[in-house]
Amino acid sequence: MAADRSNRTSTLDIIWRYLLILLNLQQVVDSLLCFCNPCAGAVVNNSCLAKEGSKCFTAIEEKIENNIAVDVWSFGCLPPHESTVLQCKGDLVPHVTPQTVACCDGEDYCNRDLKPTFIERSTTPIPGPQTDTNFNNTCKIVVAVSLLFCVILLIIAMHWGHQRFCRTGLLRSQYMDEENQIHPGECIKDLINHSSGSGSGLPLLVQRTIAKQIYLIKSIGKGRYGEVWKGKWRGENVAVKIFFTTEEDSWFRETELYQTVLLRHDNILGFLAADIKGTQLYLITDYHDHGSLYDFLRATTLNAVDMMRLAHSTVAGLAFLHAEIYGAKGKPALAHRDIKSKNILVKKNLTCCIADLGLCVKYISETNEVDIAPNSRQGTKLYMSPEILDDTINRKHFESFKQADVYALGLVLWEIARRCVHKGIVEDAQLPYYDYLSPDPSYEDLKRVVCIEKKRPLIPNRWVSDHYLSKMSKVMSECWLHHPAARLTALRVKKTLGKIKIDIESTIKL
Ligand SMILES: Nc1ncnc2c1ncn2[C@@H]1O[C@H](COP(=O)(O)OP(=O)(O)O)[C@@H](O)[C@H]1O
Ligand SMILES: [Mg+2]
Repeated sequence: MAADRSNRTSTLDIIWRYLLILLNLQQVVDSLLCFCNPCAGAVVNNSCLAKEGSKCFTAIEEKIENNIAVDVWSFGCLPPHESTVLQCKGDLVPHVTPQTVACCDGEDYCNRDLKPTFIERSTTPIPGPQTDTNFNNTCKIVVAVSLLFCVILLIIAMHWGHQRFCRTGLLRSQYMDEENQIHPGECIKDLINHSSGSGSGLPLLVQRTIAKQIYLIKSIGKGRYGEVWKGKWRGENVAVKIFFTTEEDSWFRETELYQTVLLRHDNILGFLAADIKGTQLYLITDYHDHGSLYDFLRATTLNAVDMMRLAHSTVAGLAFLHAEIYGAKGKPALAHRDIKSKNILVKKNLTCCIADLGLCVKYISETNEVDIAPNSRQGTKLYMSPEILDDTINRKHFESFKQADVYALGLVLWEIARRCVHKGIVEDAQLPYYDYLSPDPSYEDLKRVVCIEKKRPLIPNRWVSDHYLSKMSKVMSECWLHHPAARLTALRVKKTLGKIKIDIESTIKL
């Protein structure tokens, strides 16, 4: 009876299913038949109907039974919803129970032949593509920032290292230079002898070092343009002229000349260094204890030999300045423009050197150019030649400046000669024109005396009767002639006085 009922149920079941199939005939035509096992719902012949857009699938999953992994297969139709595609790619993602799914829709029962291989995967969710990208991007950013940071650090380190190297290198080279160029025992003479170059100056670094190491002892003179101090450098005396701040041009001119022109000569004040300390402009030169010729003549009287030495050396200095010397050790012609006894210094051996080059004018023969110092300074009034006083001097003509220098030289020779004792007689030290004018006359008075009245310093009678003084007076008279072109040249005066000097020196030896 039960069997009978069971047979009846299964027959009914089959009929029901066929009815269902018939009812969905149209759908069947459009759909796909898949092999199913286990099958769900009404099935015929292990078939299921995958509706339009759906697929057949075959899945394999691993189940643990009694600690043994068992492969469990399943076949069927996937429902026609959006997840179909995802389910079919389900093997690509981890499942709680490891499972691999394969899908097909090529033909009816196509899934019967699908043999997906089980791929064991971790059940731990692995980062999805988005997370992966994020992670990758984050990694890239971190690496890039780190790299950038390292590069910046490297650049900073290199820059710092370079600066440090340069700084220490410069300092080292400075010290080395100082050490190399100024050895512990080296004196001024050694430095000058070792120095070379186009100008008569020492290397600038040495100059700065000297300037730094000098200390001032006492003020020894005040000119119109600065104050001169006696200073010490490594135990040796030096003269330090500190220019008034308003006299920058004078400092510049004098320094420039000493640095660029070979002015090393026994009868030109020896230059050591120039420097700027704050606002103070320094010019460091040889120091001469006797001071200026002006002071010296007021302090001493002279014999004929000393007179000739002073006179000859002064004119030798001027002739050197005036001369243009060609060649590697050459120099351009210069005119002093402020020759006077205060700008001539007396050395220990009673020879002179010319100082105070702040007003010098340079002649550039190649271009026939007269390079006048660009400062407002003028020569000392009392020593101005007639052509300067009446302003007839041709400033474009370099010879004019030399001729004006020779005029002033004549006055200096007169100042020297006054102090030469002959037969117990000597004149007092005086400035030129002292018997006509005050020491600081007006231009008008001076012009009247020098240009109009054409007066010149008086030649005392006793000079005429003295062999050497008479020669000296002849020379000076030819130096201060009214017409510039008629005056002797410095070179001529040097030669004449040179002969007289040799004459005197040989007479004294006899
Ligand atoms: N090297 C020196 N040694 C000794 N005395 C000097 C030296 N240089 C200058 N004097 C003294 O200083 C004075 C002024 O110097 P100078 O160079 O003529 O300066 P200024 O340009 O102001 O006229 C000189 O007359 C002299 O008495
Ligand atoms: Mg002076």
